[in-house]
Parts: sequence; structure tokens; C-alpha cells
Amino acid sequence: MDEELHEHFTRTIERDQRVEPRDWMPSGYRRTLVRQIAQHAHSEIIGMQPEGNWITRAPSLRRKAILLAKVQDEAGHGLYLYSAAETLGVDRAELTDKLLSQKQKYSSIFNYPTLTFADIGVIGWLVDGAAIVNQVPLCRCSYGPYGRAMVRICKEESFHQRQGYELLMTMMNGTSRQREMVQDATDRWWWPSLMMFGPPDGDSPNTRQSMEWGIKRHTNDELRQKFVDMTVPQAEALGVRLPDSGLVYNPERGHYDFSEPDWDEFRRVLEGNGPCNAQRIERRREAHRDGAWVREAAAAHAAKQQQRGRE
Ligand code: ACO
Repeated sequence: MDEELHEHFTRTIERDQRVEPRDWMPSGYRRTLVRQIAQHAHSEIIGMQPEGNWITRAPSLRRKAILLAKVQDEAGHGLYLYSAAETLGVDRAELTDKLLSQKQKYSSIFNYPTLTFADIGVIGWLVDGAAIVNQVPLCRCSYGPYGRAMVRICKEESFHQRQGYELLMTMMNGTSRQREMVQDATDRWWWPSLMMFGPPDGDSPNTRQSMEWGIKRHTNDELRQKFVDMTVPQAEALGVRLPDSGLVYNPERGHYDFSEPDWDEFRRVLEGNGPCNAQRIERRREAHRDGAWVREAAAAHAAKQQQRGRE
């Protein structure tokens, strides 16, 4: 029986079909998905903080409305992803506990500060741009609920990326001070954006197996290269300089060559020692404590509804 189930799973993956929640799956496949989807969900929720920081100080009502909608979208993405993880038999309360006790990670990128309003544009352009490159292939993830959640998320991310680029275009057509702000924000966010794709392939313990299972469709380095190739012409159109003297087009490879990110910095951030790690987790703990009454009220309401349904 076990062998039959295993064979059915293997055939599903080989035929590039979808694994659904009720299907049998190897425990490692389930564990990998829970790890990745939870980390992804946590990233969306923690990712609300750096941008939320500017909602009250947006320079116009239009920019405030856009930023509010964007931050709200990130909350929505987090919720879809927690729901997708729940189809694997875990509970979102348990996942939140693991985030708060730092047993599960969230993306390194959200441990950097947003110092000026130009950071909002650069996050849309680079961070959401990197997220799209990483996430579009996840729409074809072998696990159905994750792949389907990614379709909607990617549509919204693409809108986020464009709003960032439009903000930067406006600033680049503004004063010299505004252009300086955009350049400064680009200088600070470029390397952390490259790190979002994860460690180099040789140091990525999960990639090979995740690709065999059709969870990941490309390696970390492949996606990083794709992001660089896509972003260079965008930087030229904007009129900003990307802070890498090693960035040159290599006609033989048909790709841009670029320098190695500082992987020691990446490791420090993952170990909890980035510029904003402590603040991000503390803020999330505080929000969780402050939200206790909402969760209790919602649970009491659900229990009442259930009771009424029985009467
Ligand atoms: N930030 C934090 N942790 C990272 C990062 C990163 N940028 N990149 C890799 N890691 C962690 C991995 O989670 C793994 O740790 P773990 O085993 O304790 O979970 C370890 O570093 C080794 O990395 P890999 O073996 O390469 O891990 P994996 O195969 O999971 O690849 C990747 C990492 C590419 C981030 C993958 O998990 C992924 O595609 N996730 C979905 C996308 C996502 O989470 N995006 C979040 C940011 S985008 C946004 O929210 C707008």
C-alpha cells in the first residue's frame, strides 16, 4: 500500500501534475512546504513594518492611499499563505509562535530600515521586483494550494512594483535633492535585494531536493541572474546607478556579470544581527499581544454561530 502511494506521488511529480491536500505525500515534502510557505507568510506580515513606517508621513493624500493599499495587500498575502500552510495540517497559531520565538525565519530583506520616502519607491522597484522574479515560477509549484495562492499574489506584486517605479520616475523628474534620495536608497537596497534569492547554489542545502519535487523551479543563482538582467535596463531608464563596479554585460554569456554580495552580512542578518531584526520581532510580538482581544472575540463569535447552527 505504502509503495503504491509513493509511486502515485512520484508519477504526479514526473507528469508535472498537482499534489493536493488530501493526497499522500512524503513527510519531507510536507515539511519542506510548511517551512517555505510559513517563511513566506511571515515575510509578508513582517514586510508590512518597513513601509508602514511611512504611512503617516507620505507626502500627499494620493501617495498615502497607495501605500495604505499596498501594506494592506501584504497582510492579505500573509493570510492566503497561512491558509495554504494550514492545508498541510499545521495551525497558523503554531506558525506565529514559531515566528515569535524565532524558530522560523522571515526574509532577510525586511531587517533593513526605511530612511526616506525614496525607500518606498525603491522597495517597490527592487524588493517587489525581486519577489516577482522569485514568485512567478512558484505559481507552477507542484503543491496546488501554494501555486494557486501565488497566482493572485503575483498579480498584486506586479502592481506594487509598478507603483514603486512610478514614484521613482516622479522623483527623478523632480529636484536634485529628490534624485539624490533615490540614488541613496538604491545604493542601500541593491545588495540586500540580491540576497533575497538566498545563498549561492553551492551553499543552498534545500534547492536540489525542492527542484526534484517541483516546489522550486529554478535555483537561487538562476533567479538572481534573471533579476539583474531585468533590472539594469530599468535603472538606465530611471537614470540611477547600480552600486556595483563589476556590473557589465558579458556578450559570451548573454547576461550581465556582477559582483558577489557580502554573504557574511547575509549570515549575520539570518542569525538575528541585522540592523532591524530586534525591532521587527519586538513590534510583531507587541502587535500579537495587542490583538489578543480580537482573536478571543472572533473565537467567541464563531462558537456562538456554531451553537446557533446546532439549535
Ligand atoms: N532570508 C531569510 N532566510 C533565507 C533567505 C532570505 N533571503 N534565503 C534563504 N534563506 C534560508 C532558507 O530558508 C534556509 O533556511 P531553513 O532551512 O532554516 O529554512 C537557508 O537559508 C538555506 O537556503 P536555501 O537552501 O536556499 O533555502 P530554500 O530552498 O528554501 O530557498 C528561498 C530560499 C529562495 C527564499 C525560497 O524559500 C523561496 O523561494 N521562498 C518563497 C519566497 C519567499 O519566501 N519570499 C519572501 C520575501 S518576498 C516578500 O515577502 C515580498
